[in-house]
Amino acid sequence: MSKSRLEGKVALITGAASGIGEETVRLFVEHGAFVIIADVQDDLGNKVAASIGLDKVSYCHCDVRDEKQVEATVSYAVEKYGRLDILFSNAGVYGPLPGILELDVNGFDNTMATNVRGVAATIKHAARAMVAKNIRGSIICTASVASCVGGIATIGYTTSKHAVVGLVRGACSELGGYGIRVNCVSPFGVATPLACKIFDMEPSEVEANTCSRSNLKGIVLKARHISEAALFLASDESVYISGQNLAVDGGFSVVNYSFPEVHN
Ligand SMILES: NC(=O)c1ccc[n+]([C@@H]2O[C@H](COP(=O)([O-])OP(=O)(O)OC[C@H]3O[C@@H](n4cnc5c(N)ncnc54)[C@H](O)[C@@H]3O)[C@@H](O)[C@H]2O)c1
Repeated sequence: MSKSRLEGKVALITGAASGIGEETVRLFVEHGAFVIIADVQDDLGNKVAASIGLDKVSYCHCDVRDEKQVEATVSYAVEKYGRLDILFSNAGVYGPLPGILELDVNGFDNTMATNVRGVAATIKHAARAMVAKNIRGSIICTASVASCVGGIATIGYTTSKHAVVGLVRGACSELGGYGIRVNCVSPFGVATPLACKIFDMEPSEVEANTCSRSNLKGIVLKARHISEAALFLASDESVYISGQNLAVDGGFSVVNYSFPEVHN
């Protein structure tokens, strides 16, 4: 596979100071892209940018819950690099913790504000920038295996990630006329700071937990595996793929585990 699958492309990645977003920044840069790192963790975001090199990446404070910040970040990308080819709308939060019977509706709103409203705002402004410059861009969002099945995450998170798939399908329909593709990736458990906080575990414990629940054995899921899927969807190798939810879950979301006798 060529090492420059994104040569000269400009990408905006949200939630890019940490975890899957950070890993994707590094992979996209390895493949020749200029990347805007957007996040709310300024110290971490600036550290990631400095460790890669300010000739290839820049850090921009952007709280995706605030549409004005999203608009300003997209404008910054276009002013600095002249165009925007790729959006990886990846920023996300978990919660709220209780289930539906004890639902904290304010916590529910907070989760939706980042995971749904934030993703909608980033798609809106990135797509506008692409349309304005007649760019056949690629938009990728981060959903989750919780976008396909219930019972594996909180109700708020599950709702928000199902909604991401709705956003992807709706935007795919509208933006197809402009040649813009819209897809999402759905990771299984990856040992990022988010997952470590949810489970109150060390990274090695999160990985062991994922392995024990996984369908596909003999491999440890890493952030890099999610980034590779995002790279595929960002690059011309997926030029006719749009509206898809690409699960990076080793088959977890399509296997029903209540029939163990089938395998015995
Ligand atoms: N780690 C997993 O197991 C897993 C599984 C499925 C889906 N996901 C999804 O992957 C995405 C990335 O999460 P991660 O696991 O890398 O976690 P992470 O905590 O390492 O990274 C998430 C980043 O998003 C940023 N962020 C949070 N709220 C923001 C906001 N309002 N505006 C801008 N940035 C904000 C955080 O500061 C952080 O840097 C999320 O959408 C998450 O829901 C993760």
